[in-house]
Amino acid sequence: MTWWHETTIYQVYPRSFADSGADGIGDLRGIIDRLDYIADLGVETLWVSPFFCSPQQDFGYDITDYTDVAPEYGTVATAEELIDQAHTRGLKIMFDMVMNHTSDQHPWFLRSKGSRDNPKSDWYIWADGRGRRGRKPPNNWKSAMEVNSAWQWCPEREQFYMATFLPFQPDLNYRNPDVKEAMFDAVRFWLDRGVDGFRLDIFGQIMKDPQLRDNPFAPHFATGYPRGWRREFTENTADNITLAQELHAVCSEYGDPDRILLGEVFGHPEVLREYHADGAGLDLVFLFDFLLYKYDAEWFAGVIRRFEDSFPAPMQPTYVLENHDRSRTIDRVGGDRAKAAVLAVVLLTVRGVPTLYMGQEIGMSNTYIPLDRALDPVASRFFRWIPELANRHLAERLNRDEVRTPMQWDGSANAGFCPGGVRPWLPVNENYRTVNVAAEQRDDNSLLALYRHLLQVRRGSPALHKGSLDLITGLPAGVLGYRRTDAASGEQCGVFANLGDQSATVRAVSSATLVSCGGASCDEGTIRLPPDSAIVVGRQGADPGT
Ligand code: GLC
Repeated sequence: MTWWHETTIYQVYPRSFADSGADGIGDLRGIIDRLDYIADLGVETLWVSPFFCSPQQDFGYDITDYTDVAPEYGTVATAEELIDQAHTRGLKIMFDMVMNHTSDQHPWFLRSKGSRDNPKSDWYIWADGRGRRGRKPPNNWKSAMEVNSAWQWCPEREQFYMATFLPFQPDLNYRNPDVKEAMFDAVRFWLDRGVDGFRLDIFGQIMKDPQLRDNPFAPHFATGYPRGWRREFTENTADNITLAQELHAVCSEYGDPDRILLGEVFGHPEVLREYHADGAGLDLVFLFDFLLYKYDAEWFAGVIRRFEDSFPAPMQPTYVLENHDRSRTIDRVGGDRAKAAVLAVVLLTVRGVPTLYMGQEIGMSNTYIPLDRALDPVASRFFRWIPELANRHLAERLNRDEVRTPMQWDGSANAGFCPGGVRPWLPVNENYRTVNVAAEQRDDNSLLALYRHLLQVRRGSPALHKGSLDLITGLPAGVLGYRRTDAASGEQCGVFANLGDQSATVRAVSSATLVSCGGASCDEGTIRLPPDSAIVVGRQGADPGT
């Protein structure tokens, strides 16, 4: 086992974390200033969303220079300082690598689109159109949004280029060895500066079928969105697994300690496990099922069982309740903080690597922003037509701005994100006067206090951070339970969460309470679980539960 098997990840979206420059935009210095908070929270690895040079059409996921920092965020020297300062506090740090596409303003693309025969002409995926006039897209591949073609017409070349995400994000052509080397060098640039690894943006879609075969028509409902076609030739292809191995080899050049690769990939866990490639591919892949969780014990047990089956040790599953693209956790349970607390216990006690998104630990909620005010390019391009009355009530938020509003540090103007009088790039949620770090730091019963306690207990417990997991069956309806065991030390923990609406009782054998929320208690071998409560019990060598 290496460090990343046991780690916990905290995602920072730099634009919204802390603004040190008083321009309403978060920056790297702001993160450095808040590193003590992150370390004190007890997470072990920091993942920073992109801060590289970019026209910011997709707020950094559209890059024009992979080895330079956008001026509003700082400089390469600030990024180096961030790495060093994180390390000084014992934190690991990962950056976000957007390998699939660049910005259409990247000098490579500006050159590439100029003609069919220039040194960069095949750095992107170009193809002739179909039809008499050649104006029909080369095949039926759809963009990630599924409603439009992945192909964009380029008048200069009278050809189409591929853009898996948005039209201004053209896909790089990794079948050209020069492209691969250039991007691997960008990866090395940051590895040389000490970064501990990368979160890999839409990694699963990089290697497409070189013959450009049509994807089969197969309507289905995956990852929360309807899809018309199975992405047989555009997603999770065998060549993509090979690319993962090649990237792993780049990281291996750096030896000890391990540099880590965490892929944003989509698909069934049974498919995604292939990226692991017996330890020679991606170290971790995101498993996003928890993002769309159903507050139901059986639902959680089913997902955990599936992840356990697909990612047996030494593989590690991953768990994530929220990120910069999806609804905040607490909004899916109607703002109920007791339920959010139960979810925190589950997230931080299952076997695997959990990721927290900034603000999750204080129970930040979505900030409603109508679609016609969206800065998010996905919302403004694809969802503007949706009537606001309908949008308002959707569980899934279509405007990603709503989950990216400034971090709520305290009860002062602009929640301490930027000085009062400065206009933050997105509005601060009105609930900041009560939902903020400072207020929750003063309250021993806050969600923040629970997260800190959980992270601390997890860190000190081999059973919780690296032990095996067995689901406990035969529990009362509504109760989720599992046992964590560390064979080496003999430590065992039992985790019980009541997601039902009836109180429940569970037998435990002489176990001490390590964490509890919602009034759960353990007395003389009896665990009492009111609705929306959870408990972690355990002791060295003892049997923690029935
Ligand atoms: C990923 C990111 C998302 C971004 C997209 C395009 O899904 O999480 O924020 O817009 O890729 O890079």
